[in-house]
Amino acid sequence: MAGYDDRDGVIWLDGKMVPWREANVHILTHAMHYASSVFEGERAYNGKIFKSREHSERLIASAEALDMPMPYSVDDIETAKEQALQASGLKDAYIRVLVWRGSGDDMGVASAQNPVRMAVAVWPWGAYYGDAKMQGAKLDIAEWKRPSPETIPVHAKAAGLYMICTISKHKAEARGCSDALFMDWRGYVAEATGANVFFVKDGEVHTPLADCFLNGITRQTVIQMLKDKGITVHERRIKPEEMADFEQCWLTGTAAEVTPVGQIGDYTFEVGDLTREISQDYEQLVRT
Ligand SMILES: Cc1ncc(COP(=O)(O)O)c(C=O)c1O
Repeated sequence: MAGYDDRDGVIWLDGKMVPWREANVHILTHAMHYASSVFEGERAYNGKIFKSREHSERLIASAEALDMPMPYSVDDIETAKEQALQASGLKDAYIRVLVWRGSGDDMGVASAQNPVRMAVAVWPWGAYYGDAKMQGAKLDIAEWKRPSPETIPVHAKAAGLYMICTISKHKAEARGCSDALFMDWRGYVAEATGANVFFVKDGEVHTPLADCFLNGITRQTVIQMLKDKGITVHERRIKPEEMADFEQCWLTGTAAEVTPVGQIGDYTFEVGDLTREISQDYEQLVRT
């Protein structure tokens, strides 16, 4: 497969459809230097983007958190995504929406003079964790911690929050793992580098309280699915040593969908019935 900058097709860029290879920015783009960038990852199934408006609303909230005045409304973003999806000719696809501070009069940390720009790119993206979907992914435990909400806007889907994700995922992959699980700054279990985490014990589900990391749209969907089935869900602070007593584990995310986890550090989990059921139910839900 060619690199992501070297493909056929078009990218929606600031209101225009631009040939894929020409969707470029200047080297003095503010976002490249200071991480003034927010984004969304979405999936379309059978030509329909799952929870599209929720993603557009979160994008605007993320931009506001970074003091970037959005030049586009939710409806504008919906239209842009629809146009990009149509142009791709794909029915099942991944949609990446990016909003960033471009180049302009400012080259210092402040960027009020620089335009806020937006792009939408669409491409095919299969299972995020490869065959882990069946066997259970193996996760490393990250050395970095998810930061306190007093440190950084933790609920924004912002590029700057992924710096420790990339470092941790590189280390995890070098150790033969698919991903890394973060603890938070207090030492409680938080999330993976691009997905939320769930555990099962005695027929009940436990998931970390989303008080210092992204409260994933898939996470919220799965919690509702579980509640609709009459399963008790505990959103609470989870200590890492509790993982010894959990029987099953899965990750949720737009890219990850519902991915079973077989191992986190030295803790092991079975790919059990509830994990399989939720994974299948989610696959069905996104296509209805
Ligand atoms: C850090 C992080 N946490 C959680 C998630 C899951 O969020 P969602 O279910 O909204 O895709 C993602 C993926 O977007 C992510 O990047």
